[in-house]
Amino acid sequence: MGIFKPRKRQVQVDFDHLPRHVAIIMDGNGRWAKRRGLPRTAGHAAGAETFRSIATYCQTIGLEYLTVYAFSTENWKRPAEEVSSIIGLLKKYLLESIEKMERDKIRLHFFGDLEALPPELRQLTVRTDDISTRYDGMQVNVCFNYGGRDEIVRAAKTFAADCQAGKHRPEELTEALLSGYLYSAGIPDPDLVIRPSGEVRISNFLLWQSAYAEFYYTDVLWPDFDQEELHKALAAYQSRSRRFGGV
Ligand code: FPP
Repeated sequence: MGIFKPRKRQVQVDFDHLPRHVAIIMDGNGRWAKRRGLPRTAGHAAGAETFRSIATYCQTIGLEYLTVYAFSTENWKRPAEEVSSIIGLLKKYLLESIEKMERDKIRLHFFGDLEALPPELRQLTVRTDDISTRYDGMQVNVCFNYGGRDEIVRAAKTFAADCQAGKHRPEELTEALLSGYLYSAGIPDPDLVIRPSGEVRISNFLLWQSAYAEFYYTDVLWPDFDQEELHKALAAYQSRSRRFGGV
């Protein structure tokens, strides 16, 4: 009897059957920086680079929707310097994305309350919305100043206002109707939610939309998340059997 030697597992991804929509909680930037004796802001800069390379790769393999969690409604509690560094990175990548959108026909949308953003940045988001209407390529959704509960409360308030205005009656409300009031209106729910950095929680991310999503967790920190890590997540997703409450 020989000694069992585990072989390095090859990650096999079936690129003809990818999930339509992948959502990622970009977590672990701070710890990545700390391990290197760097300020947390350096971790966010590295995380933003990872966002760029993963988004580009997702487009290459033909993913339809990619949603990332960049800044939550709770992240304002962080030191002002860290908050402004994340906002600065968003601006830098938005400016770059505008060129890329035109070239690669990418759509870019924001989920979240953008009122809190500096006016210049808000104008950029209006521009990316406008460019997006012209294209039908991969859609990237950046969740910024986003919270899943906040999103549902806003949807409920808007529906209530529509009822008051006579556009709807309360008894007409269905899951499909409420979905249309969310930031994600018209977009299929995420099939796969990835959370790097070893944390195993949902943290107020896409609460409504991820009702039937498959979850994939890894200890890898977001700045170290690369194509191979994405392959592992996709392969794990493809190995699961989704039943949506059935048998
Ligand atoms: C979570 O890691 C990460 C954030 C709160 C910010 C994510 C922001 C970016 C990747 C950059 C800007 C975004 C775009 C789309 C260009 P953490 O700081 O909580 O890490 P920790 O848990 O290790 O402290």
